[in-house]
Amino acid sequence: MKAISNRRSIRKFKEAEIAKEMINEILNAGMLAPSSKNRQPWNFIVIGGESKNKMLAAMNKGLLREREGESLLPDSNRHLKAAEYTLEIMKQAPITVFVTNPFGINLSNNLSQEERIYELCNAQSIGAAMENMTLTATELGLGSLWICDIYFAYEELSTWLSVEGTLIAAMTFGYADECPKHRPRKNAIDVIEWRM
Ligand SMILES: Cc1cc2nc3c(=O)[nH]c(=O)nc-3n(C[C@H](O)[C@H](O)[C@H](O)COP(=O)(O)O)c2cc1C
Repeated sequence: MKAISNRRSIRKFKEAEIAKEMINEILNAGMLAPSSKNRQPWNFIVIGGESKNKMLAAMNKGLLREREGESLLPDSNRHLKAAEYTLEIMKQAPITVFVTNPFGINLSNNLSQEERIYELCNAQSIGAAMENMTLTATELGLGSLWICDIYFAYEELSTWLSVEGTLIAAMTFGYADECPKHRPRKNAIDVIEWRM
């Protein structure tokens, strides 16, 4: 409960590197998550050091294409500014972990109902892994940010990472350089229905 209530999305990071043991502990926590049929539909690609600039270039290329070229997410254009801000955060954070689903079905495929359910179950499993990761980071005294703005550079990042299956999300890690306040949550009364 302590890690759950202390966790925040961190958007300012110090330059300090993270010990490899810590990254391993975070990844292990991810791998311990429950998963549908124990499929463990995840692979993790850890980006840091020399690789960081290539990651930023791929993300930037996607954002530029969305803004000035052929937009794959025209309805989401209003979120582009926020995505550019996310890129700045990825620049600061020493480590970014990309989470891919090796069983994922190409985004542009039409799905049967069965495939859709399979994808939903795998997405929940990956969400559980990522929650384990962000909570472990909190417990280790690290900040983290869960990132889906990578979808604005989906093709560019997938190609650069040589993703097999689908790219699902990214999470950056580092030492926090801010202490954000608790962000508001909906009232229990609005989201919980008791039938007992
Ligand atoms: C699936 C998912 C995707 C997210 N994508 C981004 C993102 O791309 N950029 C960003 O700045 N924050 C992102 N966030 C962080 C949310 O904005 C944040 O969790 C929410 O505002 C609540 O704040 P808190 O995490 O500090 O409680 C994402 C969170 C989740 C769970």
